[in-house]
Amino acid sequence: MANDKPRALITGLTGQDGSYLAELLLEQGYDVYGVVRRSSTETYDRINHFKEKISFVQADLTDQVSMIDAIDEVRPSEVYNLAAQSFVPTSWKQPILTGDVTALGATRVLESIRVVDKKIKFYQASSSEMFGKVQEVPQTETTSFYPRSPYGVAKAYAHWITVNYRESYDMFACSGILFNHESPRRGLEFVTRKVTDGVARIKLGVAKELRLGNLDAQRDWGYALDYVRAMWLMLQQDTADDYVISSSEMHTVREMCEIAFARVDLDMNDHVVVDERFYRPAEVQELLGDCSKAKKNLGWEPKVSFKALIEMMVDADMDRVKAEIRT
Ligand code: NAP
Ligand code: GDD
Repeated sequence: MANDKPRALITGLTGQDGSYLAELLLEQGYDVYGVVRRSSTETYDRINHFKEKISFVQADLTDQVSMIDAIDEVRPSEVYNLAAQSFVPTSWKQPILTGDVTALGATRVLESIRVVDKKIKFYQASSSEMFGKVQEVPQTETTSFYPRSPYGVAKAYAHWITVNYRESYDMFACSGILFNHESPRRGLEFVTRKVTDGVARIKLGVAKELRLGNLDAQRDWGYALDYVRAMWLMLQQDTADDYVISSSEMHTVREMCEIAFARVDLDMNDHVVVDERFYRPAEVQELLGDCSKAKKNLGWEPKVSFKALIEMMVDADMDRVKAEIRT
């Protein structure tokens, strides 16, 4: 009997969002395939607990033929392009690589779909970092982009090439303009996770201080698991479109630290040291999204509040650091 389950291919499977999206799609009854790139060590920490339920395809966003082969082999009904060099400070140190993976990588995936089967639906992981030096507050789908990092510039290119393939080839190609989203699976270099990991280490006596950069930067932070649901919903609509996905609340890095330290009865002022090494050549000072369109058209809204999110991350890091200390 033919397998009539929907089939999804995810690039960036091993990242924060890829891991949550894969779990969501499995729950929805999909056959899930994930692109992984060759590495001397496996980076499967986020997917180890369900990896026998998914299939792996080896490819790299910098290699066109490997992407065509992956899509031809899997023949998915939906492709989610989540792979990227996604850490903003690295994009100043490696701007060419960032452009190759984060910008041209999206074109390579779109080209692969165009060549193999134009009916495959496509999701692009666009970013609020494209708004950069914001041109209006709050930001919507029609707010002009003013990116402030090589990463933001690369994402703006990837965003517009997605729109262009939709309009040029009548492909079902969507961009989700996602504002910052976090979880216990967030990479340790991003500020929320750096703080929650640092708080756990200080509380458990294995660190004394936490060195951070700009505490006045403001972000619109949400929970990653809520945000991957929006990605899936975008590809279930009758027409392809672009959507802002945000919590529509803005908080400073300082407020985020206060919540994290208070969770374990500590005062951030006793432990946080501002270190100019973490300042950026050009900063994005404030991001605030307006996700009314997603609420109206997708019926989407975030479920986890900012405070609950940061507390969940502190609790998870307390458990992890305690286990590390025991071993
Ligand atoms: P992440 O944790 O940094 O994951 C990035 C993924 O991309 C990893 O699986 C990585 O694989 C993969 N990758 C990197 N270079 C690759 C290449 N050349 N070929 C194939 N795969 C490659 O990122 P995330 O937080 O899950 O974010 C997912 C996507 O959403 C990214 O495109 C990011 O830019 C975008 N985004 C994120 C946010 C956010 O707040 N999280 C907001 C807006 C947009 P390895 O494991 O092998 O390194
Ligand atoms: N990483 C980091 N480390 N950021 C710090 C620190 C620090 O020690 N101290 C202050 N910050 C400030 C940064 O200057 C920035 O203004 C803010 O905290 C958030 O930084 P990140 O958590 O690194 O995230 P980001 O906003 O630069 O980028 C993330 O969100 C984008 C969506 O807006 C990434 O996930 C991108 O991939 C994503 O597109």
